[in-house]
Amino acid sequence: MDMKMRIAELVCAALKDAFGADEPAAPAVADMLEIPPEPGLGDYAFPCFKLARTLRKGPPQIAAALAERISAPETASVQCVGGYLNFFLNRENFARETLEAVLAQSGRWGASDVGAGKTVCLDYSSINIAKRFHIGHLSTTMIGHSLRRIYDFSGYRTVSINHLGDWGTQFGKMVCAYKKWGRKEDVEAGGVQALVDLYVRFHKEAEKDPALDDEGRAWFKKIEDGDEEALSIFNWFKDVTLKDTQRVYDLLGVTFDSYAGESFYQDKMEPVIQELREKHLLVESEGAEVVDLSEDGMPPCLILKKDGTTLYATRDLAAAFYRKRTYNFDKSLYIVAYQQDLHFRQLFKVIEKMGYPWYKDMEHVSFGMVSYEGQALATRKGNIVYLEDLLRRAVDKAREIIEEKSPNLENKEEVARQIGIGAVIYSDLQNSRIKDIDFRWDRALNFDGETAPYVQYTHTRCCSVLRKAGELSAAPDYAALCDDEAQALLRLLARFPEAVQEARERNEPFMVTRHTTQIAQAYNKFYYEHRILDDDPAATAARVALTRAARDTIKTGLYLIGIEAPEQM
Ligand code: ARG
Repeated sequence: MDMKMRIAELVCAALKDAFGADEPAAPAVADMLEIPPEPGLGDYAFPCFKLARTLRKGPPQIAAALAERISAPETASVQCVGGYLNFFLNRENFARETLEAVLAQSGRWGASDVGAGKTVCLDYSSINIAKRFHIGHLSTTMIGHSLRRIYDFSGYRTVSINHLGDWGTQFGKMVCAYKKWGRKEDVEAGGVQALVDLYVRFHKEAEKDPALDDEGRAWFKKIEDGDEEALSIFNWFKDVTLKDTQRVYDLLGVTFDSYAGESFYQDKMEPVIQELREKHLLVESEGAEVVDLSEDGMPPCLILKKDGTTLYATRDLAAAFYRKRTYNFDKSLYIVAYQQDLHFRQLFKVIEKMGYPWYKDMEHVSFGMVSYEGQALATRKGNIVYLEDLLRRAVDKAREIIEEKSPNLENKEEVARQIGIGAVIYSDLQNSRIKDIDFRWDRALNFDGETAPYVQYTHTRCCSVLRKAGELSAAPDYAALCDDEAQALLRLLARFPEAVQEARERNEPFMVTRHTTQIAQAYNKFYYEHRILDDDPAATAARVALTRAARDTIKTGLYLIGIEAPEQM
């Protein structure tokens, strides 16, 4: 059903016939095919300019010679305009082939097996213990979750990893603070916030009494040495954090295959450090041990501190080897904010220097900042929007809208959740990930603009048309789908698999968001301009088939970005 490839083959055959040319081959021709800016110029255009040199003919001459030799059922007509060969697909044929292809996949249009036998590790969300989940963590969580679905959909085996931030001296301070001022009931009732409060108190008191810092360090040493009491308190802090976070993951529908975090690599760093030493990559710098990266234009990568303790980078290094060993990944993605650019460039460079070619398979999938209603998020200044609060508020607002617009809806609560959460996710995955995001309520929950509710609403509209249509016995007459609106929608449906592929190749979920939104817009245009259920049963059957294909594809598109598609709202 790859229309591009078929047209490319027609061009190749004509090239051979007209000029005896074996080059370029069909895949190269397919790459050269353009999609004209206006429908009046056809569905595909082949520019003949590049061939002019090798064939020693003018582009218009080439185009004319090719046009003469091309006629096949899928091309209603071929026209030469300047040096272009414009292809106008046979609309009826295009409608038939597209709809048959989409509907044969029953809800999996766009899926492929390009990744069969390959494994991708995705490190995302990767929360820190005893810190609250705020809106700044939304991007890593949702980009990662969406990419995981996109890779799955393309046949890859995926491993989703929450690389917990659960190691560092701050945890000694926290245990110390708990021992001094903490109460079990308070932590149980207050959750992560109670831990944060203890930590803040520790810092306040330590300003007055610097000896506290030593006590904190001593407690961390105990955690490191596996002291039973220290470890059990620390592990309890972890449980408290994960329990709080789980509520957010449940709302978002996010799951992980592994929660192996920084502490997991405590006993896995030594061999890596040993290897660095053997390969003469570790040098001393002010008492610390580092990998010199000055040749690569980067500051040194710190491996061991003066006191022999390890760092974030050391644990990431051990984690990279562990993942390669355990999952034998073909690709390993780190979905982490752009602030850690340098860290990952250093990490990959160190692995390259160690002589492992798979450093090339690792990628930092970075993204920009999130602000809220035009205000940057400043943790220190207390200007924080917690993700759970934001999500619950979104659900509340969605519920209000539903109460107003469709008070008789049956499963209001579930739909409110789908719309509210969907609105938040959509605003996160709407633009290229490197762009900064400003979250705004009026935009996110608008039923008209480019938003989740708009796309979800279109899905329910399709569902409602299908419900009304019921079972149809007539065979579809695809000639009923030759109008511009149906054709525009068909073109978008036909190209959905390409959008999924591109999103995967560039690790950009927004390409699915954008394409899915365009399908919704095209469906609505079609819906306004045409009666779908009318007197002619065969024409009705064709329009219903188009509606079904649009509904399935919108649902898939939303699924791939982590958004649910209600059937009524
Ligand atoms: N916990 C880290 C942070 O919040 C992110 C970890 C990302 N993953 C990794 N393997 N370094 O900044």
